[in-house]
Amino acid sequence: MPKTLIEPFRIKSVEPIRMTTREDRVRCLDEARLNVFKLRAEDVLLDWLTDSGTGAMSTRQWAAIMMGDESYAGARSYYRLEGVVQDLTGYPHFIPTHQGRAAERILFRTLCRPGQVVPSNAHFDTTRALLECNGAEALDLVIAEGLQPGTVHPFKGNIDLARVEALLTARGDAVPFGMLTITNNSGGGQPVSLENARAYAALLHRFGKPLILDACRFAENAMFVKLREPGFAEQPVKAIARAFFDCADGCTMSAKKDGLVNIGGFLALRHGDWVEALKNELILSEGFPTYGGLAGRDLEALAVGLEEVLDEAYLRYRLRTAEYFGEKLDAAGVGFVRPTGGHAVYLDARTVLPDLPVSQYPAWALCNALYLEGGIRGVEVGSVMFGKRKADGSESYHAMELVRLAFPRRMYTQSHFDFAAEVVAEVKAKAKEIRGVRIVKQSPALRHFTCECEWA
Ligand code: F0G
Repeated sequence: MPKTLIEPFRIKSVEPIRMTTREDRVRCLDEARLNVFKLRAEDVLLDWLTDSGTGAMSTRQWAAIMMGDESYAGARSYYRLEGVVQDLTGYPHFIPTHQGRAAERILFRTLCRPGQVVPSNAHFDTTRALLECNGAEALDLVIAEGLQPGTVHPFKGNIDLARVEALLTARGDAVPFGMLTITNNSGGGQPVSLENARAYAALLHRFGKPLILDACRFAENAMFVKLREPGFAEQPVKAIARAFFDCADGCTMSAKKDGLVNIGGFLALRHGDWVEALKNELILSEGFPTYGGLAGRDLEALAVGLEEVLDEAYLRYRLRTAEYFGEKLDAAGVGFVRPTGGHAVYLDARTVLPDLPVSQYPAWALCNALYLEGGIRGVEVGSVMFGKRKADGSESYHAMELVRLAFPRRMYTQSHFDFAAEVVAEVKAKAKEIRGVRIVKQSPALRHFTCECEWA
């Protein structure tokens, strides 16, 4: 058998992408105030800003779109999706939402009170922000290896059970529930082992607390378990995914990832106790409980996506893509979070631009350089995103300077990745010419989205 793992699909509909000239890109980035968030997408060649809602739908999904029942209440499409979610999760209660953070908002608003604390391996930004705006503390308890970019560990997304137990013992009354993000996006798209998830669930249950999964990349996580966790090599990925849902009590889901759709999300729960309150909250902002802010056609596309994502040939290719890209980066002497994750590769900017001081934001500089060199858009995960300007004008900096290149699903082929690795290598070769930035305008929170910069 040939060793090359090919894309397990062929292309029926194509969308042109446009290579701009360097002069064009210099002008575009200037107009964007040196912030790639402000670029027009059509001026980007490889758009790896996020894997969320950006993937390609299949012929079956496009066909299902035509089957959408757009009835306001009790649409057929709702019942179809409910059946698929029940079959996947085993949870009887299903509440659609327009995306992941809407599911989180409704859950936290219903269950969280000021002074509470919600542990997780790592909360995603919106999850953290939504907990905090309900007065609760979002506590990240990932294992130590999960915070060390260079350390190889098969399950860097695991939660530190000893710290969970210490929390439950000391402040159990303040914990409404525990969460677990599969895979851990904030920590590099790293998976959680089933053993760790089961032990965490058992610990929470011993203290009478439910476990809610942030399941948006559940299929990629299940495939990692199949490939890496002893005893699972022969198990179908669907059964492994089900084993995660089996040990938990519910999930929030951004279907824009492993739902293989451009918009959608849901809440699914084992017990009915909260359902009425959640639906009342849903009606306030999302819509009637049988559509939750989505069109009937969106529900249909998601029902198909949740089945397709469990195709093992697809998942094998998906995880191999990131790994392959990592091998190319390795050959170019570029550091990244190891091992490569499911949906993204996180470049270590310090290995590409070692001479740039942190005060000039090396990861932001690398992000800009990737765009100028090859039209690639990633996202800075460094001192612009996580640092802060203090009242006296001084800055606090982040421990790591990373650039996340997140891969939309079923969209880019091997040559796109070969090209991207060459672009990263070119930037590394020109490191001495790459300029840092200073921030000239910023908002008090989440400054990376909107800040304006100048060359340092
Ligand atoms: N949880 C995780 C782990 C996520 O990665 C995201 C979104 C959400 C929740 C929120 O879902 O966007 O549908 O409201 N992550 C995207 C990203 C935005 O780029 O990583 P949403």
